[in-house]
Amino acid sequence: MEDLAWGTDAELTDQQFYNRENDINLIKTLLETTSKGSPPTLMIIGLRGVGKTVLIKKIKRELENDYLTNYIDLSATTGYQRGQLTEMGIFEHFYTGWIEACENKKFSTVLQKISKFFKTKNFSIKEIADAGGIPVPIPQSEDDYKKLSKFVLDLPQLIYEEHPNDIKGSIMFIDEFQALNDLDDRLDAFLWFLRSVIQNQKNVAYVFAGSITSRDSIIEKIASHDGAFGGRMLNIEISPFTKETVHDYLREKLPSLNLDDSGFERFYKCTKGIPFYVNTFAKLLQKNAPLTEDKVNEEFKRTLPYIAVHLINQWSRLTFKEQNIITILIDKPLKRNEIAKQLEVTPGSLSKPLNKIQKLRLIESEKGVYNISEHILKAWLKIEFEEKGVYPYRSI
Ligand SMILES: Nc1ncnc2c1ncn2[C@@H]1O[C@H](COP(=O)(O)OP(=O)(O)OP(=O)(O)O)[C@@H](O)[C@H]1O
Ligand SMILES: [Mg+2]
Repeated sequence: MEDLAWGTDAELTDQQFYNRENDINLIKTLLETTSKGSPPTLMIIGLRGVGKTVLIKKIKRELENDYLTNYIDLSATTGYQRGQLTEMGIFEHFYTGWIEACENKKFSTVLQKISKFFKTKNFSIKEIADAGGIPVPIPQSEDDYKKLSKFVLDLPQLIYEEHPNDIKGSIMFIDEFQALNDLDDRLDAFLWFLRSVIQNQKNVAYVFAGSITSRDSIIEKIASHDGAFGGRMLNIEISPFTKETVHDYLREKLPSLNLDDSGFERFYKCTKGIPFYVNTFAKLLQKNAPLTEDKVNEEFKRTLPYIAVHLINQWSRLTFKEQNIITILIDKPLKRNEIAKQLEVTPGSLSKPLNKIQKLRLIESEKGVYNISEHILKAWLKIEFEEKGVYPYRSI
């Protein structure tokens, strides 16, 4: 039986889930301190497709018996999907998650108290929206909004205090954290507000996760010494699988894959050990046939449009200027003024496009030098150029 998950699966069975014992043990041990009244704040970071989401979902499954848990994916927040993430959208999402968690635990008295809260608190509610059967209060004024958002953030602590014998605490998982970049100049205020509320909670742990690396500026805003969470936040970086892990993984889960030594070396180079690419490429490769280095190379070229499909989607929505910047960076990393020179534009005019493609995680900058952060996108562009003599600026 084939036990490889698809690259797009967000929830893996324990059969499909491989490795990561150390990460899981570390994170669980840290989270268990919540039961002693000293909850941690964790930030799980790592490359796109490295396995952060499936990891935290597995940890949530393992802890949800003992704790009240809430997993939210910020990129699935309504506002974000419509093009603009808003603070209100985020709190709505938090709120519905906690209500659902209470329903799952059959904490019905809490639910009654919550609905009473909205009647007795001295702020007015414009309307009660309906989010899949869950009432979501919409505040009327800026002031109501502040009170309501504080209330929503305090819910997991309040619920714990109502049920100290049923649960050991509450754990909030906030995935796709990089979506917060959408808040632009309101990001700082949001982070400081979050911090000010959650630092007083004795029984709620927070786990943030996102496709960011430790070099990202959002990490600085939140986790650095002067950031909103000041040294209080623990960064845990999830790494790609090592060569040895990929080797054992394929042998165990997909024995019909006949890679010889050089074929395997090539396979690892193509996927860089990133589980998303490992699974996708392995599933697309020919089974029960000898796979040499040359064969793997050939298959990589053939299957790249499928392996890179999410990146090609992003690419096709870029403007010509944004695409141009990326193709200029294929050969080597460059500074902003060097890119400007090649494009014959002013460095200032690059701010917007650079920001946008950085937000999309297609490029990253380190000390002012820009680089393509998705090696699969780079590989696809190179092969397109090789085969067609031009980059696929608009032909997709
Ligand atoms: N431990 C693992 N064992 C087996 N397969 C894995 C593992 N981790 C990740 N994968 C594979 O990689 C895919 C992508 O994982 P996941 O969605 O968790 O990545 P991510 O780091 O959250 O990516 P993104 O930054 O895009 O959100 C999964 O659907 C699965 O196919
Ligand atoms: Mg994810």
